[in-house]
Amino acid sequence: MICLGIESTAHTFGIGICDDKGRILANERSVYKPKKGWGIVPMEAGKHHEETRDGVLRKALEKSGKRMEDVDLITYSRGPGLPPCLYKGMEFAKNLAGENKIPLIGVNHCVAHIEIGRLTSGFKDPVVVYVSGGNTQIISFSESRYRVFGECMDIGIGNALDKFGRSVGLDFPQAPKIEQLAKKGKWIDLPYVVKGMDLSFSGIVTACLNKHKSGEPLENLCYSIQEVFFSMLTEVTERALAHLGKDQVLLTGGVAANLRLQEMLNKMAKERKGKFAVVPRELSGDNGAMIAWNGLIAHKSGQKSSRDVDSRWRTDDVDVPWVK
Ligand SMILES: [Fe+2]
Repeated sequence: MICLGIESTAHTFGIGICDDKGRILANERSVYKPKKGWGIVPMEAGKHHEETRDGVLRKALEKSGKRMEDVDLITYSRGPGLPPCLYKGMEFAKNLAGENKIPLIGVNHCVAHIEIGRLTSGFKDPVVVYVSGGNTQIISFSESRYRVFGECMDIGIGNALDKFGRSVGLDFPQAPKIEQLAKKGKWIDLPYVVKGMDLSFSGIVTACLNKHKSGEPLENLCYSIQEVFFSMLTEVTERALAHLGKDQVLLTGGVAANLRLQEMLNKMAKERKGKFAVVPRELSGDNGAMIAWNGLIAHKSGQKSSRDVDSRWRTDDVDVPWVK
């Protein structure tokens, strides 16, 4: 079975093609880049997706060596995400499915991150640390669903890093530039905001910006914001492992590329005699291959067709009958 997946929840318009052995045959994308000094403008990102989607499809088919006639299933990101972006992906998927008479199903973007991670790591029952621009969640399977054991209460960790970077004059995407500058920095005192199992980042960004105005070197701010954000995440992840009695930590999402975050979670997992894995870069940020793979296993477990979007669809609202 060949499945074509369409990702369009935020800045990335991606198309991935996979088969039922979990082989990724293509994973092409085009990423919207905001104007200097701006964050994502949802309508502009939607326009970008509309303008680039035909080209991304062409490249994905070419790369996979498949034609539309070979595709057995089309899947798309049904949510959560920015509505103008979700609609552009859903419309495209619907037209493609209609024209070629192929079944169509929508999948949850966050669950797709987990499923591609389980495929690449081989982990059966991990605690998942999903860190991206808009999402920050500590997730694990419990009682028939992926449950959220901790999450951000205001903005996602990637957006918090980007907002800090943008405000001090760094270009998009700011997070990798912060990671580089952090290597030359030293610790300065910042707030640490964990409430129960949840995290709050925006007050820490404000504290950093205040220190920046008072002349604190940028390298020290970059180092310290990373240290405090990642320590908060590691603390909550460790507590989730302890409460659930699990021993595998899986890191995914766009911020998973950060080596310091990988190092901290890896160390914590090893100290608990557990295992740590990070999803490979091309599959950890937003991408179409994860949507294709999740759609394929959802379809096989009997998920019905969908033709709508849900911009606030929560991870713990998704039925996952394929997880045993
Ligand atoms: Fe994502």
